[in-house]
Amino acid sequence: MNNMVIEICVGTSCYLLGAQDLIRSIEELPYEQRSRIELRGVTCLKTCGKGPNVRIDGVVAAEMTPERLLSIIQDKLG
Ligand code: FES
Repeated sequence: MNNMVIEICVGTSCYLLGAQDLIRSIEELPYEQRSRIELRGVTCLKTCGKGPNVRIDGVVAAEMTPERLLSIIQDKLG
């Protein structure tokens, strides 16, 4: 089974654009999924104008929403 590394930007700009909602959406996942995600905070991904930004398994994704993030997680974790 694949695991995922999700890094959420918690820099000021992304924080103001809703990074906290992204973190909450992951924390609220059922244990089977949550336990397969390594969640980290990062301070800036250098694309502040397009926040909130996350890096998923090394790939930066901009303008993230909780809905889109959960959809990506479902796709990757199956
Ligand atoms: S604060 Fe998030 S990319 Fe800069």
